Amino acid sequence: MGLGRPESNGTESWAWRAEGPHTSRVELILSIIIIIIIIIKATGTTRHFNFDIRLRNMTRLCHTRSMVTVNGQFPGPKTVIREGDRVVVNVVNHVQNNITIHWHGIRQFRSGWADGPAYVTQCPIQTGQSYVYSFTIVGQRGTLWWHAHHSWLRATVYGSFVILPKRGIPYPFPKPYKEVPILFGEWFNEDPEAIIAQALQTGAGPNVSEAYTINGLPGPLYNCSTKDTFKLKVKPGKAYLLRLINAALNDDLFFSIANLSVTVVETDANYVKPFDTDIILIGPGETTNVLLRTKPTSPNATFFMAARPYNTGLGTIDNTTVAGLLEYDSSSSTSRKKLPLLKPTLPAINDTAAAANFSSKLRSLASTQFPADVPRTGSFYFTVGLGTSPCPRNQTCQGPNGTKFAASINNVSFAFPSMALLQAHYLGQSKGVYAADFPRNPPFPFNYTGTPPNNTFVTNGTKVAVLPFNTTVELVMQDTSIQGAESHPLHLHGNNFYPTKDPTKDPAKFNLLDPVERNTVGVPSGGWAAIRFRADNPGVWLMHCHFDVHLSWGLRMAWVVNDGPLPSQKLLPPPSDLPKC
Ligand code: C2O
Repeated sequence: MGLGRPESNGTESWAWRAEGPHTSRVELILSIIIIIIIIIKATGTTRHFNFDIRLRNMTRLCHTRSMVTVNGQFPGPKTVIREGDRVVVNVVNHVQNNITIHWHGIRQFRSGWADGPAYVTQCPIQTGQSYVYSFTIVGQRGTLWWHAHHSWLRATVYGSFVILPKRGIPYPFPKPYKEVPILFGEWFNEDPEAIIAQALQTGAGPNVSEAYTINGLPGPLYNCSTKDTFKLKVKPGKAYLLRLINAALNDDLFFSIANLSVTVVETDANYVKPFDTDIILIGPGETTNVLLRTKPTSPNATFFMAARPYNTGLGTIDNTTVAGLLEYDSSSSTSRKKLPLLKPTLPAINDTAAAANFSSKLRSLASTQFPADVPRTGSFYFTVGLGTSPCPRNQTCQGPNGTKFAASINNVSFAFPSMALLQAHYLGQSKGVYAADFPRNPPFPFNYTGTPPNNTFVTNGTKVAVLPFNTTVELVMQDTSIQGAESHPLHLHGNNFYPTKDPTKDPAKFNLLDPVERNTVGVPSGGWAAIRFRADNPGVWLMHCHFDVHLSWGLRMAWVVNDGPLPSQKLLPPPSDLPKC
């Protein structure tokens, strides 16, 4: 593309003159250099990053604890690159925990080795070891993020991953004056690794976080926290692009800014038909870009931006509110202290109608430049939800009725193998690592949202669904009411999909015209979602609930996508420094 459009006319005339009768050596060499530059510009730059995994003491809510970080930063470093770039990240592990890094939403065409989920595409990077993640951004631009993908380390190991459009290609919306990442997270006074270890041992639900955070800061609504408040200073009459990322472990969030509506322009690094809203719903793993237009003149007030959970489950959750400030940087900062503080109204915690209303507005741009290419066929039916596991002998368990909490897809609670699935697949050594018989349908039908069956035990297994290259998949995911109906943000690695169920139509109609393109979809509480995707990326791709507690309980599975016939349709060989188990 870029090849046909040299940066200036001067470039073109140089190139032509090189062919003319007065060609000198210097001109020839210069024109060759210029052609090389043009090719490099068209193919993108290589961007190098260093991620040192290190401990760092952090204090919030008057509690200090040591946490695992990247380069000592919390949230981690902001990564900005361009569509077409090659990204090379050297991750060095200086802590006692094993770790991996996942580039959430990156397609990883043929480069599945760099995707990151532990025991799926790689074994974890052990203490003192390092691994270089290397991948190219093809056909994607927008807001994504990166996070640790082993145990609950992503509680502190996460950051934004911003892909700018290729040079000279504008956004399909007015150019913002400024761009600001807004990362929602969770603060735990205790070490999250201890929390999940204890929960898996006792079978009980894990302790919940003490606070939510915006860019690592809980804000003024918590004790001992006023100084840790995120402030967005704005000028009147300008447009700001907020890149919202929900990096919280276990919670869907409603977000709103007092006295301002925003325009949603993108989700999961895919442009959408713009629409205005006062309320944003954002599930863990999801990203949403919104344009915020400030008032034409500086209003004499300060505004809260706030987020708190949307939840319909039965378990305990962190039911607190994080707030940041939106301040107009007007002349007299002296008087700012006296300005009235306006707060947004957030929906009730279980306001499913507000949640559905937001989701139903998301539509693909579906333009010639950014088409919605919805595949037509292929059928799988998965139940997603909670369940239980028997309590081991000689132990007392604190899950439902003395059992242990578990979670499953089609009643299979996915057990991680001891070797990375991708490696086993690539080497043709799946025997003893995984079975290729993941059930296409629920093993026994019941009224999924009615009274649960008497036996709620899940089965444990490492099962994958195998797809020939270029298969089109339609997948219906049905929430169950076992241990309470709940929404589940289902995330698929290495692929985007189209959620095709139109949530406004009942009985449901499918939208095959302009469904939004995503990498994470909320399966509604007590409801279902349908997605379609084309398996055009060879590799092994994890699909899981992005609530870390459900992920830990086994609400996960993997798709194996086989190589296609052409060389460009085959998984690349593994890098030489791929961590061994
Ligand atoms: Cu955001 Cu499996 O990850």
